[in-house]
Amino acid sequence: MSRGGTTHFQPGDVIQQHFILRKRLGTGGFGDIFQATSTLKRKPIEVALKVDVYEPTDNWLGKEVQTLSVVGGKPHFPKFIHSGIDGHYFFYAMELLGPNLYEIRKKQRTRTFSIQTTVNVVIQLLEAVQTLHNCGFIHRDIKPMNVVIGGPSKAMHDLYLIDYGLCIPVLSREQYQETLYEESNIIGTFHYCSPTTHHRRECGRRDDIISLLYMAVEMRLGKLPWAGVTDMKELRKVKDSYCSEILMEGLPPEFAEIFMDVLGLQATTAPDYARYLKLLKQVQKRLSFNNRTPFDWEISQPRASIPYKSPIKATKSDPVQ
Ligand SMILES: Nc1ncnc2c1ncn2[C@@H]1O[C@H](COP(=O)(O)OP(=O)(O)O)[C@@H](O)[C@H]1O
Ligand SMILES: [Mg+2]
Repeated sequence: MSRGGTTHFQPGDVIQQHFILRKRLGTGGFGDIFQATSTLKRKPIEVALKVDVYEPTDNWLGKEVQTLSVVGGKPHFPKFIHSGIDGHYFFYAMELLGPNLYEIRKKQRTRTFSIQTTVNVVIQLLEAVQTLHNCGFIHRDIKPMNVVIGGPSKAMHDLYLIDYGLCIPVLSREQYQETLYEESNIIGTFHYCSPTTHHRRECGRRDDIISLLYMAVEMRLGKLPWAGVTDMKELRKVKDSYCSEILMEGLPPEFAEIFMDVLGLQATTAPDYARYLKLLKQVQKRLSFNNRTPFDWEISQPRASIPYKSPIKATKSDPVQ
């Protein structure tokens, strides 16, 4: 796998005669991603183009295309435009969207999001994750850098889940194998990966939701309790030591309820998305906002988050199955 290297493409280069690279987007660690002008149709359009060295036996970008060709264009997913091989390179083009949530949060004065924005981000991403799971894929790399807002021609109120490089199929109970991964084969972004990954087990649908809840804590509080911990064993220990209530302490109690439910799921069980969405709607109702409430990045003045107090008192650790 060539993941981790760059392709040496530069702005100004042209791929397959129709894609003129304009500027590098984000800081892709796998291959390269550019904003490009596509002249494939009579009217040129701006697209996002991901490119990497083509390895026929291990074409991970090709696997991304397999996922995007199923989910592309559904709510919360970019439209798939084109894929191909140019010399030694494989590339695919998709709808051009906006900045990612990591960049957006870092631009906030407090480096946090209000409770309204945090809840509404989680609602949209739960819908995205549910769509992806229903299409048969587990993402395995849910994190702020893999979530972008609408691009120049789209609303900044719509969130999109991108980067399908680590997607695997949803497995049935019969297909799931209780084998332990080698430590060196652990993948994903350690900061957001669920305890399952640390315990070297294969991920299920529940693990995408655990990563999403970790994201919620970080969005609201500015960091996760294990910020700065890089040692894998230490990271696993810190994550295991947090019970739902303590970890979700800075968020409305519904988050701890969802977290506890997800932690109790088997790897092959479908999460109860409808129940989680209902609980989050309950938060919206109690704190008097709704899905149309502008996100923090849609308003020029920073707003005060609605104050609330968690009625739950923490007790012991929750089991991880
Ligand atoms: N369709 C898109 N529109 C706009 N920006 C994008 C798009 N796809 C990716 N990006 C930007 O490029 C970055 C890297 O893309 P990603 O697919 O996550 O690559 P990697 O596999 O290197 O993580 C993202 O964090 C995002 O900021
Ligand atoms: Mg990424």
